[in-house]
Amino acid sequence: MNITGNTILITGGGSGIGRALAEAFHRAGNQVIISGRRERLLEEVTTANPGMEALVLDIQDRDDVAAFARQAIESFPELNVVIHNAGIMRSEAVAAGDFLGTAEETIGTNLLGPIRLTAALLPHLLAQPRSAILTVSSGLAFVPLATTPTYSATKSAIHAWSMALREQLKKTSVEVIEIAPPYVQTELLGPQQAVDPMAMPLPEFTSEVMALLESAPATGEIIVERCKPLRFAAENGQVAAVFAQLNAQHG
Ligand SMILES: NC(=O)c1ccc[n+]([C@@H]2O[C@H](COP(=O)([O-])OP(=O)(O)OC[C@H]3O[C@@H](n4cnc5c(N)ncnc54)[C@H](OP(=O)(O)O)[C@@H]3O)[C@@H](O)[C@H]2O)c1
Repeated sequence: MNITGNTILITGGGSGIGRALAEAFHRAGNQVIISGRRERLLEEVTTANPGMEALVLDIQDRDDVAAFARQAIESFPELNVVIHNAGIMRSEAVAAGDFLGTAEETIGTNLLGPIRLTAALLPHLLAQPRSAILTVSSGLAFVPLATTPTYSATKSAIHAWSMALREQLKKTSVEVIEIAPPYVQTELLGPQQAVDPMAMPLPEFTSEVMALLESAPATGEIIVERCKPLRFAAENGQVAAVFAQLNAQHG
């Protein structure tokens, strides 16, 4: 993808990977609009990055997504890239029996969110001379983490959805790119993750992603080195071994 001169909307741009990508694209000469629920956090990021804009969004709320998309297009008619980064990751103890609420919220945020926002933005994106939809899946799309069954399932679904969308849109102006992060130092699972030495440092992850985006791999997938054991576990005939190792570490 051309990594400069775009107007980019990033969901979940107030923290973690979303913020890091927002700042990298901002520095690379793009108009960046971040969104999320925490207005104060968004303000903090836009203040630190003059020229960056913010719009509040709760991606779980179907009506909010539709109104938000209309507002985004009206305020930024040159909008040509959306990065579906917002997500939640919560553990579910299925035998305890009270996991359904978490499962539904996870599907609403991680899967229905990007689908609804894409439905609302696609006519506009198709009318742009060059545009892109970027999804954020996970290495866990390819080998699930047993403690987060619905999270892992939403990420597998995002992978499948991205592949299918890419195929349907291949003759249009809309490029479809999937970023599959490995375990990265953010607060997705809580503050301890941001300092976990087992997780990939965020600046390292961000610069590898930006370099890969610029090199535009033909697969449409952005897979940093650290994610390759998970992403290619099936191709390598290693799903059972990688699953056992992953879940022994985190179980
Ligand atoms: N860090 C990792 O190890 C890792 C690995 C693989 C994939 N990922 C994926 O990377 C993406 C970013 O996660 P992260 O690690 O950067 O964690 P993070 O810092 O917790 O970021 C998640 C972002 O999503 C936003 N969000 C959550 N629910 C939302 C909602 N209902 N409406 C709008 N925004 C919402 C949050 O903002 P508000 O709370 O302000 O709404 C937050 O900015 C996620 O999709 C995650 O699944 C992360």
